[in-house]
Amino acid sequence: MKERVEVMISKQEIDKRLDEMAAQINADFQGEPVEVVCVLKGGVVTMVEVAKRLKMPVTMNFMDVSSYGDSTESSGHIKILRDLDVDITGKNVLLVEDIIDSGRTLGKLRKLLLQRAPKNFKICTLLDKPDRRVTEVPVEYIGFTIPDAFVVGYGLDYAQKYRNLDFVGELFFDED
Ligand code: IMP
Ligand code: MG
Repeated sequence: MKERVEVMISKQEIDKRLDEMAAQINADFQGEPVEVVCVLKGGVVTMVEVAKRLKMPVTMNFMDVSSYGDSTESSGHIKILRDLDVDITGKNVLLVEDIIDSGRTLGKLRKLLLQRAPKNFKICTLLDKPDRRVTEVPVEYIGFTIPDAFVVGYGLDYAQKYRNLDFVGELFFDED
């Protein structure tokens, strides 16, 4: 099987949409400092591109989480592989994701971070795949709503590859 990537959202379209999203974020936070939190690894490209467009004082932080297996799904816990190195209590937090798919992980992560009592908590995602949603999560800033396709690029990977592509592409598998 040969992998083939076809452009779904071009670099130009992403740049334009990120400008619009950042303008909205700038307006919403009214110059107050924001702690931008990236969910590793997929969120990293979008985080950097959003952060570069923000006008208020910005600090950046990183988290890595994994869900427990299905058997403990109902416990509502996630495993923190890497936690923030700051206390977000009383702070404005902007969590940046690459894509919201089932919403399971993000739903749990949101709950966990809200327990730390931030002043304000908003979620920003480059992509949204609503067809696959299992857990509803409020997301304030959505770049693009896409159909149920497997996409790579702009932080998103297939077997850790393609994260560096400067566009979002759909991945296909062709017979050799
Ligand atoms: P969920 O919303 O908890 O199901 O998890 C979403 C995560 O699954 C994302 O952060 C991605 O890491 C991964 N993911 C979902 N859809 C895709 C895709 O189309 N391409 C690459 N990774 C994806
Ligand atoms: Mg992710």
